[in-house]
Amino acid sequence: MLPRWIDAWRKPSANRRITRIVNAMSVIELTINDRAVRGEVEPRVHLGDFLRETQHLTGTHLGCEHGVCGACTVLVDGEPVRSCITFAVACEQQDVRTIEGFDNDELMRRIRRSFSIHHGLQCGYCTPGMLITARDIVLRFPDADEARIRLELSGNLCRCTGYMGIVASIKAVLQDLKDNPIAAQDACAAQPRHAAPREQVVSAPASFQTFEATTRDAANLTTAPAAAVTTARTEPAAETQRKGWTAIDDSFVVPFPLETVWAFMGDLPSVTACLPGAELLDHDGDSVKGKIAIKFGPMSANFAGAARLERDDAAHRAVMRGAGQDNISRSRANGDVTYFLSQEAGGSQTRVAVTLEYMLQGPLAQFSRSGLVKDFVRRMIADFGTRITAQLGGNAAPQASAEQTKFNVGSLVWRVIWGRIRRLFGKAD
Ligand code: FES
Ligand code: FES
Repeated sequence: MLPRWIDAWRKPSANRRITRIVNAMSVIELTINDRAVRGEVEPRVHLGDFLRETQHLTGTHLGCEHGVCGACTVLVDGEPVRSCITFAVACEQQDVRTIEGFDNDELMRRIRRSFSIHHGLQCGYCTPGMLITARDIVLRFPDADEARIRLELSGNLCRCTGYMGIVASIKAVLQDLKDNPIAAQDACAAQPRHAAPREQVVSAPASFQTFEATTRDAANLTTAPAAAVTTARTEPAAETQRKGWTAIDDSFVVPFPLETVWAFMGDLPSVTACLPGAELLDHDGDSVKGKIAIKFGPMSANFAGAARLERDDAAHRAVMRGAGQDNISRSRANGDVTYFLSQEAGGSQTRVAVTLEYMLQGPLAQFSRSGLVKDFVRRMIADFGTRITAQLGGNAAPQASAEQTKFNVGSLVWRVIWGRIRRLFGKAD
């Protein structure tokens, strides 16, 4: 039996569908990592470039761009394909899964862990393609011996020549699966052909008409000292609700009655004033357009976009949904900020419970999921509460210099690190 990659190489799905392509520019709709995507693309653009340059899914690596090295391997309708020789337009209505799309996949978790234990990577350049191919081998050949593994892997080249570790990793996973089978409910992403949920259609950034900003990002962006607000932390309940999204729950208490706080939270210009670095460009009812400046050490980002506020007056619950893009780093953000108000201290105070759900794509994505980031997002929420308290008390939020008006993540990171050091040595934070 020939290895699967040879068959795929001889009959790439692109060739089966290329005859459908008639226009110079094509609008395509497909699903990428469970997210429905709509984009305009030239027929000559291959899937690898489409994923990396318009979707900012840079986990898909490009090596040879000739279909030889396998670094660009992704799943299309559950089957490994070389994205460098698959036209993006050929993936119309198809389900594409990149290495970023396996966060909730138990099998991939085991493979990654095995690669780590058995030194299955060195520089890591071939690793995304290796992992996806390894997963395919494990699924199709549960009893594969080393010869079969090596044969199936022959379409993936490792320039660090770390094949022994890679083969050992796959062998270990096969044995592990025999000893500890994956429960059916944990193997959802392991199914070869995914149903494509299409509840959310996102245009490719290249064709964005407007950057739909995220007040999720905006809601984070505060640097005022957290002094007058008490916070309470809860475990993130929504962390697993959406693949690829990070969820953070927190709350703060402000010393004003619920209705006063609720009215304030509906006044978008006032709320924006509590967000250093945020600038409200336009607002119409519950829709806003704006931008926000972020400084992360030497790196600056200016997210611009739009958001929409949905309020439930009876429940005192609201959600701000938005999206934005930074044209400097070409990072893209989507997010929801949900807040719920409840009375405290017999009605003289109000607790504001905040759930922040967000997904970053592009160069800034590497910062989005670490514990450090979650820590400083919680501090940002507390700072936000401090500023609301100051505004409601008739005290304007502290004015900052032009440089300080940027949300300086660097300084906040330092505060978080310092807080961790203090906790480590048993001092109250
Ligand atoms: Fe696609 Fe090498 S980059 S096979
Ligand atoms: Fe470096 Fe494979 S680990 S190319």
